[in-house]
Parts: sequence; C-alpha cells; structure tokens
Amino acid sequence: MKAEILENVNLKGDYFQVRFAAPEVAAAAKPGHFVHVRIDERRDFMLRRPVSIKDAENGVVTLLYKVVGKGSAALSRLEKGACCDLMGPQGRPFTPQPDHRALIIVGGYGAAATWQLTRSMPGGVVLLGARSTDDLLLVDEYKAAGYDVRVATNDGSMGKKGFVTELIPELMESPQDKPFFVYGCGPKPMLMALAALMRKEKMEGELSLDEIMCCGVGSCFGCVVKVNDESSPDKFRYARSCKEGPVFPAEDIYIGE
Ligand SMILES: Cc1cc2nc3c(=O)[nH]c(=O)nc-3n(C[C@H](O)[C@H](O)[C@H](O)COP(=O)(O)OP(=O)(O)OC[C@H]3O[C@@H](n4cnc5c(N)ncnc54)[C@H](O)[C@@H]3O)c2cc1C
Ligand code: FES
Repeated sequence: MKAEILENVNLKGDYFQVRFAAPEVAAAAKPGHFVHVRIDERRDFMLRRPVSIKDAENGVVTLLYKVVGKGSAALSRLEKGACCDLMGPQGRPFTPQPDHRALIIVGGYGAAATWQLTRSMPGGVVLLGARSTDDLLLVDEYKAAGYDVRVATNDGSMGKKGFVTELIPELMESPQDKPFFVYGCGPKPMLMALAALMRKEKMEGELSLDEIMCCGVGSCFGCVVKVNDESSPDKFRYARSCKEGPVFPAEDIYIGE
C-alpha cells in the first residue's frame, strides 16, 4: 500500500525513525514482522528494502533504520508528506509466551524488531549490545516500558565491555519466578553465537535473522538460511527467511559441527 510519511527524524548518528500512516499494515502487525519498502519509483529502487516493524499503533507504522547504503540514505532524505510503497506485514513473527519471562537479546537496530514484545510480555529483561554507545538504541524506551535493561558494548563505552552474550551467565545466576524465553535479533555472527549458547544451556527461544532479500514473498530463494533437517544427508535444508522466517525457533538454526 502507498503510505504517507508523518515524520522522519534522525535519532542519532546514522539512525533514523520514520512513521507512516498505514492503517492496514498497522492492524495486522505482530512483533517481529517486517515491511518490504519500495522507497520510490526510480529504477534504482526497484528492489524493495526489508525493515522490521518497530511499532504499530493507531494506524501508524514506525520503522527504525540505519543508513548503510543507497536505499536507506534515500529514505532518510524523504520528508513529511512523501509516500513509500509498503508491502506487509511480512514473514513469521515472534511468538509471545505468557508462561515465560521475556529475555530479549539484541544487537544494534535489532532492538527495534523486538520492541513490540514489551507490550505482550511486560516485565522482561533486555540485553542490548552494540559496537559502541553511538550504536546503542532504545535504552531509555525499554527502561520506560518497565524492562530490566543491561548493556554491553564492544569498546566498553557503556555497560559491560564485550559481546552482549557475555551478559547471559550473570543473569542466569539470579533465581527467576518463570523460566526465560529468549527473543533475539542482530548481526548474524552474534545470532549464531547465541544459538550455540542456547543449545548448550538448553534455553528456549526464537531468533530473527536479517538475510539480504529480493522478492520478500518466497519466490526467488535469494534469502535462504540453513535450518536443521535430520532427514537430509547433510543434516540441514535451506529455508526462505522471508517466508519461513525471519523469526526461527533457535533450535532449528543450523550451526554446523
Ligand atoms: C527481516 C529484516 C529486517 C530488517 N530490519 C531492519 C531494521 O529494523 N532497521 C535497519 O536499519 N535495517 C534493517 N534490515 C536491514 C535492511 O534491510 C538493510 O540495511 C537495507 O536493505 C540496506 O539497503 P540500502 O539500499 O541502504 O543498502 P545497500 O546499498 O543495499 O547495501 C549497503 C550495505 O548494507 C548491507 N545490507 C543490505 N541488505 C542487508 C540486510 N538485509 N541485512 C543486513 N545488511 C544488509 C549490504 O551488505 C551492504 O554492506 C532488515 C533486514 C531484514 C532482512
Ligand atoms: S527474498 Fe525471495 S524468496 Fe525470500
């Protein structure tokens, strides 16, 4: 659908937040869904760009995005009143688990994909990771939503110095009323490390993988990821992350030997 921009603001550095009037998308959006955005009609932007739905309320869809290339840079230049074509909500969303406590583990703009879970799973914990303070997002927002926020940065400029997964052992030491259910999103190396750790520690959860996408609707196989398949001689098969994902049960993600 054609969606008008209500606001498109720079949050900090390369990070922007855009709000679209998109009632049909907002009504159907669940945590972890994404929209496939056609930024404008020019040939350069024939391929849509996938972006997670950060929030969807009162007919408004909010996206938080980082400028990394041509498409995201063009989006950042659009002003109130301009229109983009939004296809979505797309993909398989996260599954809220009311019998568990949410443990959100995210890197960089991955913090946007899990944001809506703060409503369906209040009172959780979020481990926010980033290269440095400049890439840390939504710290105050998660706190305001009542989440226990813990931070790790690679350069130690905020929180623990190191990878976000290094915050997990400390958390596991404190007793919890309910078991944790992990929701993860972030760069692929972080998610592969998280999937391996979850397997070792027998932690349940779902991870959202950001694969580069073309069609976004399951027809081109440009976005495949390896998932476990015991019936295959290689023990894996390829799954289309735009259709079968981007959210996968952590136990399904193939991490090799
Ligand atoms: C399901 C999903 C959800 C996403 N959610 C968000 C989000 O909430 N916020 C956000 O900022 N970005 C998100 N992304 C990444 C976003 O789609 C890319 O950053 C964007 O397509 C880049 O387009 P571009 O034209 O600016 O860059 P390009 O010129 O196409 O590429 C510039 C750089 O970005 C890298 N890149 C391109 N596509 C991706 C991708 N899919 N994932 C990671 N890196 C990519 C390229 O490898 C290259 O290094 C998501 C991706 C997926 C698949
Ligand atoms: S992007 Fe075409 S099948 Fe997923």
